[in-house]
Amino acid sequence: MAANQPVWWRDAVVYQVYWRSFADANGDGIGDLEGIRSRLGYLAELGVDALWISPWYPSPWADGGYDVADYRGIAPEAGTMAQAAGLVAEAHAHGLRVLIDLVPNHTSDHHPWFRAALAAPPGAPERRRYHFRRGRGRLGEQPPNNWTSVFSGPAWTRTADDSDAEWYLHLFSPRQPDVNWGDPDIRREFMEILDFWWDRGVDGFRIDAASGLVKDPRLPDLTPEQLPGSPRPPSDRDHPYEDRVGVHEIYRTWRRAADERDPPRVLVGEVWAGDPRRLARYATPDQLHAMLDFELLRAPFAALALRAAIDAVHREFRGIGAAPGWVLSNHDVIRVATRFSRPAGREQDPAGSGVSSDPAIGLRRARAAALLQLGLPGQAYIYQGDELGLPEVETLLESSLTDPVWELSGRTIRGRDGCRVPIPWARSGPSFGFGQAPGWLPQPPDWGGLSVEAQTDDPASTLNLYRQALRIRRAETAMRGDDLTWIESGPDVVAFLRHAPGSRRAVAIVLNAGAVPVPLPRGDVLLASGQLDGGRLPPSTAAWVLSAPDRR
Ligand code: NOJ
Ligand code: CA
Repeated sequence: MAANQPVWWRDAVVYQVYWRSFADANGDGIGDLEGIRSRLGYLAELGVDALWISPWYPSPWADGGYDVADYRGIAPEAGTMAQAAGLVAEAHAHGLRVLIDLVPNHTSDHHPWFRAALAAPPGAPERRRYHFRRGRGRLGEQPPNNWTSVFSGPAWTRTADDSDAEWYLHLFSPRQPDVNWGDPDIRREFMEILDFWWDRGVDGFRIDAASGLVKDPRLPDLTPEQLPGSPRPPSDRDHPYEDRVGVHEIYRTWRRAADERDPPRVLVGEVWAGDPRRLARYATPDQLHAMLDFELLRAPFAALALRAAIDAVHREFRGIGAAPGWVLSNHDVIRVATRFSRPAGREQDPAGSGVSSDPAIGLRRARAAALLQLGLPGQAYIYQGDELGLPEVETLLESSLTDPVWELSGRTIRGRDGCRVPIPWARSGPSFGFGQAPGWLPQPPDWGGLSVEAQTDDPASTLNLYRQALRIRRAETAMRGDDLTWIESGPDVVAFLRHAPGSRRAVAIVLNAGAVPVPLPRGDVLLASGQLDGGRLPPSTAAWVLSAPDRR
């Protein structure tokens, strides 16, 4: 591909399909590929460029599908290989690209590799695909090191209780053993898995837990500064499993393979870095095409914080000529409309923690944040249902919870089920048009009012706000390119200008996070997330304003 040629992925709007909760075609209460296929028209009309489908592989579902039992298959509940191929082809016919999820850090404990490893004795070659170690203590009764699981508790589980038994490493749940990227078999296998799906037409991968694949083979203890919760210096390259030199080498190999394909394929990394410099190290031109950014997602609804989050990432990525992937929410966090309904400082509290909230404010802010996100240069990721302004479901019964976090935290953290509830398509029906039966997680009784059907003909609906924003984003030449220019507008306003090189037009993106209306820049209002107050932008509202350069 010639340098400087526009590439589709650089400013793509990607819609995340959490397939189990998207659309259920066969009425078993679980979303499926036919369900996605039946809604491609909706996605094309919404105006997105691509779908990212959460892991669709056979999985015992110990962590929402991120526990893969067969990387070359399709979960039987989702459908068949033939349906997957049909879905990709039909998506292409609608002008939509398809990214799928790849989970290279760990497999399911049901994966044949892990079963074989468990069946083999300590020291056997089958165990080399994972990290098995003898424990500490006289009888090996303590974990081999002090690493902890992201889902709480130690990152190690012992295979049995006797003194010969080894422990195996899992940075996530015990049902997600980490694979050993020091083993050449693993490297070859994953290369073949990439090829397998590229041969079937998928346009690329979202790479799960992308920073942690390569471990220091000595598996040393984390130092006090490296332990979760302590701020770590960004230049730290000695972490035993984060950002190691070897992980970047893997992505260089994958990038070469992606570029050799016709058309070239795309790699997007998921790294919860907390530091844009770390993130950008993955997005050099020889590694991943784009990186999901979680700074915006973690920012409170406050102008300085939103601007700082955007600015830090934009600068880092601009510096290396790369594209960030702006994210407001996903299947791992509280829905944005609920996050912003909470008082300052409590936005990120776990779902169901009883924080008081104002849903009307939350929705207003979520709509404003959407115009901020979609106004930025780079990629934008929309999590299914955010275009409907869905709130987090905080009323799920404990008996409905499936997130491993719930059990592993000793039933203290409810986890992520509340953002994974099947989405409503119709005003009525057993699951509001999700399918012919109640969905696998119960929907709140008033969700018919938030459905696609209910919002389609309402010009002021959140769905129509997204549709208009995506239409303008695609058509407006001023909004091309990688640059943004900040407009200084006081401590309560986030404002920047998009002005593509060579375009005579410019678009100002303005968000009022304060408590009183503020003046809008001069020009024609292309779109606003709420009613304007004469020529002024009310609190918790954003607008896109077109100005010809000579009128500014
Ligand atoms: C990130 C995924 O988005 C999340 O859902 C999963 O639990 C972890 N990675 C582990 O795979
Ligand atoms: Ca189904």
